[in-house]
Amino acid sequence: MRSTPGTQAELATRATSDELVAELRAADVVVIGAPMYNFSIATGLRSWFDHVLRAGETFRYTEAGPQGLLEGKYVIVVESRGGLYSEGPAQAVDFQEPYLRHLLGFIGLRDVTFVRAERIGFGPEARAEAIAAATAALRDAAAPALARAA
Ligand SMILES: Cc1cc2nc3c(=O)[nH]c(=O)nc-3n(C[C@H](O)[C@H](O)[C@H](O)COP(=O)(O)O)c2cc1C
Repeated sequence: MRSTPGTQAELATRATSDELVAELRAADVVVIGAPMYNFSIATGLRSWFDHVLRAGETFRYTEAGPQGLLEGKYVIVVESRGGLYSEGPAQAVDFQEPYLRHLLGFIGLRDVTFVRAERIGFGPEARAEAIAAATAALRDAAAPALARAA
């Protein structure tokens, strides 16, 4: 909802958006959990982006093109997927990671580490392996965030 809110429902939606934008602005580190749903992101996460991508608040249009207004944040995105998309034939249908990278970059969040738990749907062994690998990768990804907090 990008125009001036008028109805109760619109005012409530704007209040939610204001709250989410304020929360994001205040964060030094942003951690996003992103399961792959139908080759892209889940509806709830998409809705969060709908609330925080706001012209004049988190990005603006300039003569040189759109400019992100959030700076100096570190983002960790944990992606879980039933299948394998980081290599092999399904790479072409990964509309999750490039989409997330673009959405985040659009509001100025370019320092992003993606942690992937893949082949979650390939049976208990593959699932356990995926979670162990992602946990180790998450530890590495968290190191810069922990260093900032120290
Ligand atoms: C509605 C729905 C759509 C999904 N679509 C995909 C998909 O397109 N590709 C994929 O690899 N996994 C897909 N999955 C599997 C999820 O990515 C996987 O369940 C998710 O990473 C979370 O893991 P969990 O179910 O073990 O919590 C889908 C799951 C659901 C519920």
